[in-house]
Amino acid sequence: MPTRRLSADAGGIAEAGALLRAGRLVAVPTETVYGLGADAGNPAAVAGIYAAKERPRFNPLIAHLPDLAAARREGDFGAEALRLAQAFWPGPLTLVVPVAAGGRVCDLARAGLPSVALRVPGSPLARAVLAAAGCPVAAPSANRSGRVSPTQADHVRGDLDGRIAAILDGGPCPVGVESTIVACLDGPPVLLRPGGVPRVAIEAVLGRKLALPSALAGAAPVSPGLLASHYAPRAAVRLDATEIRPGEAALLFGPTAPRGLDAAATFLNLSPAGDLAEAAAHLFASLRRLDASGVATIAVAPIPEAGLGEAIRDRLARAAAPR
Ligand code: TXA
Ligand code: MG
Repeated sequence: MPTRRLSADAGGIAEAGALLRAGRLVAVPTETVYGLGADAGNPAAVAGIYAAKERPRFNPLIAHLPDLAAARREGDFGAEALRLAQAFWPGPLTLVVPVAAGGRVCDLARAGLPSVALRVPGSPLARAVLAAAGCPVAAPSANRSGRVSPTQADHVRGDLDGRIAAILDGGPCPVGVESTIVACLDGPPVLLRPGGVPRVAIEAVLGRKLALPSALAGAAPVSPGLLASHYAPRAAVRLDATEIRPGEAALLFGPTAPRGLDAAATFLNLSPAGDLAEAAAHLFASLRRLDASGVATIAVAPIPEAGLGEAIRDRLARAAAPR
């Protein structure tokens, strides 16, 4: 069945909400990346996400809600989770908390865990769709498994055309990397995935350092987002390249041209000014474009670790991981 394009207006929002309520799959833009949404309370709809993405493992999904009140019906927020939600929602932060009694997110969306990942997205368009749907919406990134996350409607269409009911076209995603995931379970809050909210901002609100995933008690799974090779272009990716080799595609950052750029097959600059937020916003689209040029290797200039640099470096390390 052809995938419909919905526009970012009242009609498109209402249609997206109705399709989600009916158990269909709709790609919805958030401020981070496009998500592949389904009613999180409907196991058949959630199973459809895995089929459309060809995601081989049933990993737990993030449930998206229009506001904190709706999120608190799905999860039990301790004092620290509540502080983080109040500081960063709506926005690119996902909180993993114990499931609330009466929560609607189905077992399949949670992969059977006693915890649930919740997020109130910063995008007003996404929140309008969530309000129209009236249910928690499970949404991983709207790409086929193993491919680079989509930050434009065309990226989604390239990966999922004919497999999903509709794509709501909201233009490019302004943050460009996925949400930061913090688990607030027993013990100290744990950083499961660096993302759109920098670590230092979260630690400033908590008044303490985030713990490593190894601090999680018991059988909590490693976030699959923490697994190696996950955001893989077809080309090989070479990190921290201070010199470009002949025939490589170059992904640059900042005002200084690396040695050997003359012999590059092609290049893009994530942010000529050296701005990490701008670089994050351009990261996935740039990887897709350089990959499409057909080069064997993409050489990536050094990216600083500070602020959003941690999330950018994390995604690049996955793109470079052996597969
Ligand atoms: O920005 C984002 O977070 C995007 C947009 C669409 O919201 N979504 C996204 O979803 O990146 P996804 O499925 O690619 O990543 C969800 C991550 C996975 O790494 C998963 O393991 C983790 O969240 N996760 C979900 N529930 C969890 C739980 N109960 N415990 C630990 N990790 C969990
Ligand atoms: Mg993903």
